[in-house]
Order: sequence, then structure tokens, then C-alpha cells
Amino acid sequence: MSRDLLAPARPRVLVLPSAEAVADVARAEVLGAVDDARGKGRDPVLGLATGASPRALYRLVADAAPDGGLSDVWAVALDEYVGLGPDDPHRYRAELLREVVVPWGLDPGRLLVPDVDADDLDLSAAVFDDRLAALGGVDTQILGIGRNGHIGFNEPGSSWRLGTRRVRLSLSTRQANSAYFDSLDAVPLAAVTQGIATILRARRLLLVATGAAKADAVAAAVQARPTPRCPASVIQFHPQVLVVLDDAAAAGLEE
Ligand code: PGA
Repeated sequence: MSRDLLAPARPRVLVLPSAEAVADVARAEVLGAVDDARGKGRDPVLGLATGASPRALYRLVADAAPDGGLSDVWAVALDEYVGLGPDDPHRYRAELLREVVVPWGLDPGRLLVPDVDADDLDLSAAVFDDRLAALGGVDTQILGIGRNGHIGFNEPGSSWRLGTRRVRLSLSTRQANSAYFDSLDAVPLAAVTQGIATILRARRLLLVATGAAKADAVAAAVQARPTPRCPASVIQFHPQVLVVLDDAAAAGLEE
């Protein structure tokens, strides 16, 4: 795959009238990626975001997949919280088991998540990237976008050259994610995230965003000059990107 870091390009953007339509188009992309990988003789490898944005997409894939029809798929997490107990349901491993692995009928042994219980998180992050490479890389990486423009937990200012690593979460990210916890204090302070360099190695990126709260971040990611201040703007350097938005998330885009 060639990638010219000096020549950003406008990503392909589809704007649809509803969140349901966004999920439906994304579903077709994901199932197309699975077919493509199989056609090339590989087990499909999907990179999976957590959070609200891909949830409807995951349900539609589950509805569309015949029983056992996705059992060859590898599911790779984009990130994982650090500091939660091993059985905490807020862990992204737990969320991916609930939202993807079980409903899609995947083999739980094919779910790859950074090991956040290791003593040495630098080492376990490197091991995660090595395992990802050994799988042959991600076919399609599904991404949400944070209100601050983050992808994964790569917060504004993150270097684009870094791989998977431990990061501190910004206050705005912890505030946004506190919706899923009892309080802001319960939201972890740190995570292990695929780095931007890791994300860029996926063959395709599929960024999904809905709702007005994402409009500014989407405009900065898709149409403004790429800058580490908006981590998602790095997608302009990837040759195979599809951004699927509802009208509200697209409100900041110029024609
Ligand atoms: P959301 O999160 O899909 O829950 O809005 C996206 C993100 O923070 O990356």
C-alpha cells in the first residue's frame, strides 16, 4: 500500500439522512471487507471500535450474518481501559464480547485485545502490535470519532508515528465516557490504544459518526488541514477511507 504523508486527500464521505442509514451502509462495507479478504485467501481481520457510534452497525451485521457464517473472522480491539477489574463490564473486551463476538457467532479465541493486566504495559502493547502484524494486519478498521477529534484513545497532540501504547485520557474524553459509568471518578484515567501508526496500517478505514456533537470534529477531520491537534485528520493520508455520516454529523462540512 502506498501512502504519501506529504499529500493529504479528501476522504470519501457519504452523508445519509439517518443513523439507521449510516449503519446500513457501514454494514455493507464490513461484509464486503469480509468477502474481499476471503477472496484473497485470508481469514478476515476487522478492527473494532467500541462506544455508541458502531453499535447499530454491529447489530445489523449480526442480523445479516448466517449462523456460523463469520466464524473465520478475527476481531481486533482499537483500545482498552487500564485500571478496571478483570470482570468489569466496562472493559472493552467485555463490550466487544457482548456487542460483537456473541451476536456475530465469532470464536472468542479470535478476539485480540491489548493485555492491560500485564505488569509491563509497554511490552504488552508491543506484543499486541506484533500479533496484529502476524495476523496479516487489519482489513477494515472501524472508527468512531471523539468530540475532541480523537480516534481510538489517541488524544489531541498524539504523535502520528506511534504504535500501540499506554495513554492518559483527557478530561473531555472521560467526561464523554462517564455516561457509561456511575460517575466521572469511576472512569479510568488511562488506557492502551492502537497508535495512529497502527491504525494507518489497516487496509481500509471506515469512520462512522452520527449526531450534532460530532459535527465540529468531523469537519476538522475531513476538510480542515490535517494536524495532530485533530488526530482523526490523519485519515486524509490514508488511501482507502470511507466516512459515513448522518446529516447532523455532517453539518459542519462545506459542499
Ligand atoms: P462514541 O465514541 O461512539 O461513543 O461517541 C466515539 C469516540 O470517542 O471515539
